[in-house]
Amino acid sequence: MNISVVKTILLKENFPGENIISKSFSSHSDLITGVYEGGLKIWECTFDLLAYFTKAKVKFAGKKVLDLGCGSGLLGIMAFKGGAKEIHFQDYNSVVIDEVTLPNVVANSTSEDEENDVNEPDVKRCRRSKVAQELCKFRFFSGEWSEFCKLLLSSEKLFEKYDLILTSETIYNPDYYGPLHQTFLRLLDKNGRVLLASKAHYFGVGGGTHLFQKFVEERNVFEMRTLEIIDEGLKRFLIEMNFKYPS
Ligand SMILES: C[S@@+](CC[C@H](N)C(=O)[O-])C[C@H]1O[C@@H](n2cnc3c(N)ncnc32)[C@H](O)[C@@H]1O
Repeated sequence: MNISVVKTILLKENFPGENIISKSFSSHSDLITGVYEGGLKIWECTFDLLAYFTKAKVKFAGKKVLDLGCGSGLLGIMAFKGGAKEIHFQDYNSVVIDEVTLPNVVANSTSEDEENDVNEPDVKRCRRSKVAQELCKFRFFSGEWSEFCKLLLSSEKLFEKYDLILTSETIYNPDYYGPLHQTFLRLLDKNGRVLLASKAHYFGVGGGTHLFQKFVEERNVFEMRTLEIIDEGLKRFLIEMNFKYPS
């Protein structure tokens, strides 16, 4: 994250309701349960999933995608670059969405050749309208997962479910497994899939891949498949989930 963003947030005394940076500093922790859930930094498994997208040639074209627990939003941004038709970003903390995800998405919503300096007013106008069109593909949400589901499913328009849910380092806390499983259950299209990246174990919080796998197996709704194991430093997993009985 750009240091100027950190400064901006720190300087905003009385930031509405949160002030997560100073709380995170004073508690010497990247996670404060129910207060700050870690979205200000980019976690290791995000890079595993990004590498997997390229390696496995994951197709995003025409898909509706959710970057769940997005933090910086890199997974959703990759989906956008790959031609996803709609990309939603969710993070627990509104500060993360406002100060990190949104600026990051906007900065990455133009292609490189469009960034070259052009002075022609017509070209500029055309480019601006193209950027505006691209931005219509994005939506941003902050808040806890059950509330997020409630909000989406209670809107007047019939909610079109996600073809793909991308989520990295979101299974560290077993207390959240219920709402997370519900989120997949309620928001994933019957033929959709979840791509989940996680460490084997989160010391101090207690969650991890095996515990989550057990939780999911007991509910008997989703099938889980290990796509890759990264066995360097802390062991990490890439997992695919889809409905066991899609119809
Ligand atoms: C450890 S961070 C990972 C951020 C990002 N995905 C990455 O890999 O860099 C976990 C993310 O999950 C989200 N999260 C965790 N528990 C949540 C909950 N109970 N409700 C909503 N969001 C939650 C937070 O917003 C946070 O950004």
